[in-house]
Order: sequence, then structure tokens, then C-alpha cells
Amino acid sequence: MTIQTVATRPIDGQKPGTSGLRKKTSVFRQPDYLRNYVQAVIDGVGGVAGRTVVVGGDGRFFNDTAIGIILRMLAANGAACAIVGRGGLLSTPAASNLIRIRRAFGGFILSASHNPGGEDGDFGLKFNVANGGPAPEPITDAIFARTKTLTAYRIMAEEAPALDRLGTWTLGGMDVEIVDPIADYVTMMERLVDFDRIRTLFAAGFRLRFDAMHAVTGPYAHAILEDCLGAPPGTVINGTPLPDFGGHHPDPNPVHAADLFALMFSPDAPDMGAASDGDGDRNIVLGRGISVSPSDSLAVLAANLHLAKGYAGGLKGIARSMPTSRAADRVAVRIGVPMFETPTGWKFFGNLLDAGTVTICGEESAGTGSDHVREKDGLWAVLIWLDIVAARGESVAGILTGHWKTHGRDYYTRHDYEAIDTKAGERLIADLRASIPGLAGKTFGSLTIAEADDFAYRDPTDGSISAGQGVRAMFDNGARAVFRLSGTGTEGATLRVYLEMFEPDPARHGLDPQEVLAPVIAAADKLAGIGDRTGRHTPDVIT
Ligand code: G1P
Ligand code: ZN
Repeated sequence: MTIQTVATRPIDGQKPGTSGLRKKTSVFRQPDYLRNYVQAVIDGVGGVAGRTVVVGGDGRFFNDTAIGIILRMLAANGAACAIVGRGGLLSTPAASNLIRIRRAFGGFILSASHNPGGEDGDFGLKFNVANGGPAPEPITDAIFARTKTLTAYRIMAEEAPALDRLGTWTLGGMDVEIVDPIADYVTMMERLVDFDRIRTLFAAGFRLRFDAMHAVTGPYAHAILEDCLGAPPGTVINGTPLPDFGGHHPDPNPVHAADLFALMFSPDAPDMGAASDGDGDRNIVLGRGISVSPSDSLAVLAANLHLAKGYAGGLKGIARSMPTSRAADRVAVRIGVPMFETPTGWKFFGNLLDAGTVTICGEESAGTGSDHVREKDGLWAVLIWLDIVAARGESVAGILTGHWKTHGRDYYTRHDYEAIDTKAGERLIADLRASIPGLAGKTFGSLTIAEADDFAYRDPTDGSISAGQGVRAMFDNGARAVFRLSGTGTEGATLRVYLEMFEPDPARHGLDPQEVLAPVIAAADKLAGIGDRTGRHTPDVIT
């Protein structure tokens, strides 16, 4: 047992973004890059001596190598125990659950979520704290500060044990416990949704297609949907995790899950379609001939959550990220619970969930989750949808259009301009920000701005302030445009433009969002000068 203390130097740019540190795989594989960052995390969170830490990832290329290094460093830094998913696999929500039920100090989650994987793809690493959620900003700030002062890291000379056999092994003075990544997650889902009711639904011939996109949810979906709930084999497709996700982006949106969308809009569509992302925290749900926008999904789930087995007591409150549509706010008003608006990124929901002030949270980026863990949870959302469909005896389309009838429809779209010149992106946002004081009353295209601001959030629990979270323009017809730069991209800058407009009239609920929102899209383009500044006249991805 040899602990090596290896001299190193700070490496530039190891700043955690919206969801941990995300870089090209080739960057993570540079000498000392991962080791430096892991040591900075260990130091930034106050050390791991005597502590239990969960470790697992989405199985992308470099997952197992990186886990080996992390285990050797945890042991060298005095950790008592590492709990690792067999094969190095743990979906992000399953990791969050394990941290909670095993009362661990925290966990390393290896994933770049929906970004492509492989040698030329992306890799990522984030640390979740004892509540199971992503480290909040004061901690990520401390980690980043440590990356800048690091002079050495500690690592065991010995190799870590193989990850493919269940059991407890040792590495130096640390136990390495290899656990089934799925069992505890299934137990939790059984508590939250009515497995019998969903079994009856499938037995009656209900057809589901779940696209696991060759990512981590495959084994979880096979186990729950097919083995436990009796959905026929073939319900789950692309269910074997691959290191490069079969060469695709494991992102459940109309562009990257195009086959699923095509199927659901074809004559032969099953009753429900769903997909999850690389690490299993995102979800998309479709009905026959209709897709549920993630913002609407949050609203529908909030309005119906009391029908699901684990939530019979109703909701305490709802939270959404600021760019998410205001559909959920209408539900909060109707059922009389508080509504919270947070910056983009799941880490901001953690304190609200811990304080017991909200039960369900969501983001427009295909993320929904509840107080059962401290991450968004893709398969959970799909199971809750199934439970609600079974409880109501209605189709997905029936539930969604019925929801619009009662609450009105918030037409919504997000336009992404990917890998634009970083300087041009930063300048665009800086200029928009600077223009805010003079915007009210100005007209862009057919719309006039009523008010504009730069979103800032004060966390009600720790009082921390997160400023500069996105420029919001409210138009006088109630429409809204939000502008921000992505904090998860690995190439240039990605500009996200979020556009929405409320339509109360049910006669106008069946329209194409792009057409309804055309005046808002045009006004947003004029306001920010997107075409002129980026040279892009159409977005790369529309969701
Ligand atoms: C994106 C999404 C955000 C989500 C995050 C992690 O972050 O917009 O809602 O929490 O991925 O999945 P962004 O790239 O916009 O910073
Ligand atoms: Zn993800």
C-alpha cells in the first residue's frame, strides 16, 4: 500500500459550469488533468478522510479509467469507503438516491449528460453533496479556487479493483463496495408509482416505445418497464449502453431523437413514446401525434401528481428554472401552492427541496424530478406519466389538450445557436445587458417591450446571490424572450434563446409553436442582433 504525493501545477480553465466540469474527452485525458481536478474537488469539499463516497457514471468512453483514478485518489486521501455501481455504471438519479440512502458524504458522477461521447466526444465530472444533489455554488467556487492553487495530488500506486464483480474489496485502507446499480432505484420507483396499475395498463395492450439512446437508462428501463411492469420485449430500444452512444448525441429532443418523433407522428404510432439522455436525468414524453414540451410536462405532472401512488398527499410547492415556460405557474395558482423561479441548473433546486418547500421541479431542457432525489430523473417522469395515464384512463394527447383547455396554452420554443464564436456570443449578451435600462417602450418588429431585466436569484436558505442568469424581455402582449449562454458546451459559445407566448383560447391551441411564435422570434432576433452578430440566420437546434 503506497500513497504517492505527486507534484503538479494548476491547470487553467477547470471551472465547473452549469453541471460540473465538462470538456472534450481529449482534454480530460491530458496528463494530470483529471487528477488535478479530483484533488481540487476533494480539497474544495473539505477532504474525504473517514468518509463514504459514491462513484459512478454513464458508461461513456473513459468512464472506467477515470473511476480507477478517482478510487485510487479517494483511498490516498483517506476515504473509508467508496460505493461504486457495477461496471462503473450509475444513472445520475440512481447515484443521487445511493448517496441519500447510504448516508454518504457525497459522490462523483462521471457524465457529460446529453453531449456526445467517445474519444472525440465529451467527458464530464461533477460532485454531488450529502443531500444527493449537485454541489451548490459556494462549493463549486471553492473547488475552482483550489484548482488555481494546487501544488500536489495524492494517489495510490496500486490499481483499483475490477468493477465488474459485486462485493467488497479493499484498496489501501479503503473499502470498495461494488453494488448493483439498479436494485435500489427500482425499490424507490415502486414506492412512488403504482406498479400494479401500470402492469394492468400494459396487460390491456397499452403500447410504449422507450428509446434509451444507447445510454445508461437502458438497463434500468429493461428492468422496470419490461421485467417488472410486463411491457413486451422490444418496448425498450437502444437499451445497451455504448461508450460512444452509437455515435449519436444522447439527447431526447426532436433533432437527436428524430426516429422516435417520426414514429410517434406515424400512422403506426404506439400509445406513448419516451426517451432519456446519456446519464438518465432527462426525459421526453410523446403521445400519438403529439409531443409534450418539457415545460408543459412539468405543468401536467404538477397538476396530476396527487394521482401517483407516492404523492397522494398532494404538493407542497413547484419550482422551475427561469427560462422554463410559465405553464407550471398557472397550476400553482390553481391548486394554491407556492411557485419558485430559479436560475438554470438543477443545483438551485436542492435547497428548496431540502427545506420541504417544493415537491416537484422542472426545466425546459427536458428535466423533471421531485423530492425523491436531488437530481432530475428521466425514468421517474416516464413512470409518473404512465401512472397518470393509467389513473385517468386517458391518452397522453387527451391529458395534454385537456390541460390546455383548463389552464390555457403557453406556446414555447427554444432556439440554440451552437458553437458560435465565443467573443461574439459574450459581446451579444454584454450589449443586451447594457441596453436593459433603455429597453422599455422600444419596438422590435411588431412587438413593444414592456420591461426587461437580467435575472438574479437569492437563495432563500443560504442567502447566496446568483446574478447575470439571463436577459429577459417581456413584451406588451405578454410574450417573453430570454437570452443566455450555455454553461455546458465544450466548443465556442452556445446561445440559447427561449421564446414563449400565452394563448387562452382553446380554438387556437392546436397550432404550430414556430408559427404562433414567429413575431416573438423576429423581435428577439432584432433585439439581440443574432443574425448580424453571429452570422447565423437559423438555429442549429429547435426544441
Ligand atoms: C443545460 C440546460 C439546463 C440543464 C443543464 C444540465 O445547461 O439548459 O437546463 O440543467 O444543461 O442538464 P446550459 O447548457 O443551458 O447551461
Ligand atoms: Zn443528463
